[in-house]
Amino acid sequence: MPTLALTINGRTHEVEDVPADMPLLWVLRDRLGLVGTRGGGGIALGGACPVHGAGSPLRAGAVPARARAGQPITTIEGLASADGSLHALQQAWIDHDVAQCGYCQTGQLMSAAALLARNPDPSDAEIDSAMAGNICRCGTYVRIRRAIHAAAKAGAAANTNTTATGAAS
Ligand code: FES
Repeated sequence: MPTLALTINGRTHEVEDVPADMPLLWVLRDRLGLVGTRGGGGIALGGACPVHGAGSPLRAGAVPARARAGQPITTIEGLASADGSLHALQQAWIDHDVAQCGYCQTGQLMSAAALLARNPDPSDAEIDSAMAGNICRCGTYVRIRRAIHAAAKAGAAANTNTTATGAAS
């Protein structure tokens, strides 16, 4: 089986023995130790597993890793700046105490980052629409919306550490 080369958060990884149908999520977590991306139902319905690829959200649990060969991917581990500065959304999440159990929050942050990259000042309705695929069983939706507005004000869309902007992909 040929080695799979994946470019993740700006770094290329060579991964051995990746079956054709192995989801990207499994490679990220089990082969590369990038465990910030979570698994949900495995059929892209829960929204726990988004990463960014080619400028848009990508459900890592439902995409074969081999389908992403040679294409840049950003995971939650790459959302902050290389110098450790948090993405405006990450700071807003802290400031607004968004997370409860935390399980869904990686997906919420990645989807929110993609939203702000294409719409730097979304309305409540636009947030609800963009985030509709991200389920939170703890019901943090109101705080998520509040944090997205706060991050929009802080200029999250100008943050170049998400591939949703296409700038750091
Ligand atoms: S914070 Fe618990 S599922 Fe969202």
